[in-house]
Amino acid sequence: MREVGYPIDLRSDTVTRPGAAMREAMAEALVGDDVYGEDPTVNRLQEKAAELTGKEGALFVPSGTMSNQIAIRVWTQPGDAVLAGQNAHVFVDEAGGAAALSGVQISLLGQSGFLNLEDVKAAVAPDDVHSARTRLVCLENTHNRSGGRVFPKSEAEAIGEWVHENGLKLHLDGARVFNASVASAESVEEIARPFDSVSFCLSKGLGAPIGSLLCGGRDFLKQALRIRKLFGGGMRQAGVIAAAGLYALDHNVERLAEDHSKALRLAEGLAELPGLEVLRRPETNIVFFRVPRMDEFCAQSRERGVLVSSIDEATVRAVTHMDVDDRAIGSALEVMGEVASSLSV
Ligand SMILES: Cc1ncc(COP(=O)(O)O)c(C=O)c1O
Repeated sequence: MREVGYPIDLRSDTVTRPGAAMREAMAEALVGDDVYGEDPTVNRLQEKAAELTGKEGALFVPSGTMSNQIAIRVWTQPGDAVLAGQNAHVFVDEAGGAAALSGVQISLLGQSGFLNLEDVKAAVAPDDVHSARTRLVCLENTHNRSGGRVFPKSEAEAIGEWVHENGLKLHLDGARVFNASVASAESVEEIARPFDSVSFCLSKGLGAPIGSLLCGGRDFLKQALRIRKLFGGGMRQAGVIAAAGLYALDHNVERLAEDHSKALRLAEGLAELPGLEVLRRPETNIVFFRVPRMDEFCAQSRERGVLVSSIDEATVRAVTHMDVDDRAIGSALEVMGEVASSLSV
């Protein structure tokens, strides 16, 4: 629930604040030194993540970015090529990490993040001395910069099969894979099956303050542990934050459906406002829309207590989450309606 006087913050689902019950779980967490593998709460969280994704194990890391970047580092050698969808987070939003930390080049394929098997086949470099060796394909589900769309499961399976037949690896940036699971009624384990490694975030729709899990096989995780240390992600009494993650997985997964229906309500309301164009019916918790005089629209909405973000020069993003309830969605629509009317005169 929103704190009194706090704006209606629709910039991202990362803005949620831990509530009383989650904080209590954090305060009571048993802890140890996790770099020695001795934090019982971290160990429990890792076991739970492995179980949910159907992998042999999992590693607790501070962020989704670190999780993806560890996976890229484990699966590649400097000079290799990685394939990902257009606007993939690993390319657009991770500060050039793949180049800086792993020395790889990323090629972006397909439309709006939705590459298919033909795109992958066409992009894999021939075995030629001139070409970078393609080692890894990264998919994103849900896909952030295409408006939270769910990656089609059959396409992921087809890509996975071909990739494995051809000696490549498949990584899932599943920052919002629980949203994908709730929206598609497929278990996370089902969604994760074609992938060699899977990253998911606790600090987005699940409402924990920090943390991501990198899940995969034993050999992969052995190397990932070393790379986590190299990247500065070895944490000590991390059970305090792992407890928030366990709480989130126990209590905040099914409720993601409420965020999805709030996004739908928001999209339907926005579509009725003058000059606004909703880009597509939201599949999960992200609404993309276009509005004339976008900068003024965002600034004036902000002045009136509604925060949204612009993701490029023409597109606004509004994300629903557990700290905006139905009433807040109604108020946000009212405010944005007033701003849109005042700008279109
Ligand atoms: C698809 C996707 N992957 C990875 C991340 C990175 O997560 P973090 O902010 O924890 O580094 C994000 C963050 O928004 C994301 O949307």
